[in-house]
Amino acid sequence: MLNFVFENPAKIIFGKDQLSRLAPEIKKHSDRVLLVYGGGSIKKTGLYQQVTAALKENAVTYVELSGVPANPRIETVRAGIKLCRENDIGLVLAVGGGSVVDCAKTIAAGYYYAGDPWDFFTYSARITNALPVGVVLTLAASGSEMNVNAVINNDQTQEKIGVGSRHLIPRFAILDPVNTFTVPPEQTAAGAADIMSHVFEQYFSANSGAYLLDRLCEAVLQTCIHYTPIAIKEPDNYEARANLMWAGTIALNGLLSTGKETDWAAHGIEHQLSAMYDMTHGLGLALLIPHWMEYVLNENTAGKLAEYARNVWSVKDDDDFTAARRGIQLTRDFFQAIGLTGTLKDQGVTAESLPLMAEKAAARPLGSFKKLDVQDVLNILQAAY
Ligand code: NZQ
Ligand code: ZN
Repeated sequence: MLNFVFENPAKIIFGKDQLSRLAPEIKKHSDRVLLVYGGGSIKKTGLYQQVTAALKENAVTYVELSGVPANPRIETVRAGIKLCRENDIGLVLAVGGGSVVDCAKTIAAGYYYAGDPWDFFTYSARITNALPVGVVLTLAASGSEMNVNAVINNDQTQEKIGVGSRHLIPRFAILDPVNTFTVPPEQTAAGAADIMSHVFEQYFSANSGAYLLDRLCEAVLQTCIHYTPIAIKEPDNYEARANLMWAGTIALNGLLSTGKETDWAAHGIEHQLSAMYDMTHGLGLALLIPHWMEYVLNENTAGKLAEYARNVWSVKDDDDFTAARRGIQLTRDFFQAIGLTGTLKDQGVTAESLPLMAEKAAARPLGSFKKLDVQDVLNILQAAY
């Protein structure tokens, strides 16, 4: 196990009917809020009405920034920063999924930066401060509700890049599984694929000795494998939604990467698909991951991939390569069983765009379980194509 420091000050308020806790949490920081949300699902579900009523009843003034798209754009962040400055905002409240939370977090950081917020994503400026962020989560997937990350799209440059800073960790997040009952099957599946991929990126590590972390990773994977089909079949199954919601947070709040190296190559490649094709992040990962696993399978990695197959899928084969291949096939079968099937071509990806996406993905060092160069990335994209 490697040395590590683990610090995560986010306050998680988990469970049913917790909205009465919203205003008191907000008022610890401010009574002037930017309310950020997506394309309208929260109005259809009635959550918007509940949240705004709670703000009004507690004399919290709010300004709205609606229409945050899946794969949030830097333009929306710029508009949000302007609203915060014009309205003397003291807290940014995200009500939605990971796209809304990431947009809100970047607005909060951009508020204190005189330059353009995209500078954070070209790494030409560091995040040194951010307005407090609060979250009411409506989709189990990104883990953004309790982590340092934000991932933003730039349509001008056709890039999607993530940034990390402790200033981005939300002050609080209300996780009420009932708010995810309305998540459609394809989004439930994509969310599960994203959660599992976050775990894969931390579980498949070049170093060993992190026994506890590996068992925790396996538990999150088995939780997704067990409950996703149930949540798809019974969208208002509270136990399924509750376990998936907490799995999504645990998968990427920093805990599972303590003491070991992490990989993140599959995410680096998927972000190119989301940048160029606006692809749903979890779907892109489901189409890529089995091919990534196959591509990185070699003498050095077979043991770990076989451990995954045996401990998560109860594969019995003694030979590591056979077990590993069985585990990869079971992973692919699972994604297909929850509706994440097909090829990149089926999703409208063109063969001509593969080399450019490979270039962009490999522009920065990629992978540690197996380091990938441009050709490796192109091979994986072509296998998934
Ligand atoms: O926009 P609305 O109308 O709200 O509809 C959304 C959206 O269309 C809908 N939805 C959300 N909650 C719902 C609902 N529909 C019905 N009922 C509900 N309760 O679902 C669609 C997808 O929402 P989105 O927020 O995009 O999904 P998700 O939570 O998977 O977030 C994806 C984003 O997270 C980023 C991804 O890159 C992507 O931009 N990620 C953030 C990370 C982080 N900050 O740590 C890490 C991840 O790897 C990921 O990259
Ligand atoms: Zn992800």
